Amino acid sequence: MRRRLFFALLAGVLLALTVVAVAGAANGGFTPVTPHSPNAHRINTSYYFILGFTGFVFVLVEALLIVFIVRFRSRGRARDVDGPQIHGNTNIELAWTVAPVVILALIAGFVLYEIPGIKNVPSASAGESLRVKVEAHQFYWQFDYPEGEVSINKLVVPANAVVRLDVLSPDVAHSWWVPALGGKIDAIPGRTNHTWFKTGRLGTYRGQCAEFCGLQHAVMRASVQVVDADAFTSFRMAHRPGSRNVGDEVIDGACATCHGDKGQGLVGPKIAGNPLMNDRRGLTTLLRDGREPTRTIDGMPAVGKTWSNAELNAVIVALKQRYGAGS
Ligand code: CUA
Repeated sequence: MRRRLFFALLAGVLLALTVVAVAGAANGGFTPVTPHSPNAHRINTSYYFILGFTGFVFVLVEALLIVFIVRFRSRGRARDVDGPQIHGNTNIELAWTVAPVVILALIAGFVLYEIPGIKNVPSASAGESLRVKVEAHQFYWQFDYPEGEVSINKLVVPANAVVRLDVLSPDVAHSWWVPALGGKIDAIPGRTNHTWFKTGRLGTYRGQCAEFCGLQHAVMRASVQVVDADAFTSFRMAHRPGSRNVGDEVIDGACATCHGDKGQGLVGPKIAGNPLMNDRRGLTTLLRDGREPTRTIDGMPAVGKTWSNAELNAVIVALKQRYGAGS
């Protein structure tokens, strides 16, 4: 009797935990975020198409399980006595062989139908378009716009334009993922991958590096801000590669990730007040080439390997102003 009570309690607790977890995960957990780009819509549709079948199969299997447990329970039969012997049923066996084949064929067919609209970047003739190079770095995103403008961690685009992304990485594997604007695309060293999105809805869309890329992977966030045409023009004016804005964005978006938002040190050493901040040549070498860790010296990724000279210069000037000795 006591054992029964124990199992009843255990089942109750497990059920409660499951319900709480499901409720907590409801949006942004099990269900995808609301899509705002044609390719994201297609991913969402495929998700619910598959969820329909899997949900149906789940309910069917669990319901039959419960029915069989009740119906074929031992009813006090002695342990060493065989239960009733049941032999095959050709119709049921045919059904459970054919039904999964049909379901899998439907899912495969539907997904293959949706894939081109997710993956293929619309051709250049499809109205206004913008092409941006997305560079994934340990541990920040750099966006290079057609006329050399640069932004860090925040991609700014005009509404209603087809935005083509050329995604690459100069260091290790990362993954570009802004769920409301389309699927993941890997950023792999030595290869450029392509994806796209288009949305008419102004606002900010959040994303996250989706491939474990090192210590600060978790804080490697990205956002996409969709603005009107005027705001986009002023954004571009303010983000010339050698500008103070870009220098500041690099410090806040790239340096601060490891060295703290005041240069006080985090997973990387303290840089505020470090004499290197006044050493143009030393900084250039470190930012361009990085450094292998030794027993006594911290390593550092080559964060500025691909920067233009103008960008590098803007960063060095900004570092000196913020963290240099005597500032
Ligand atoms: Cu970059 Cu994870």
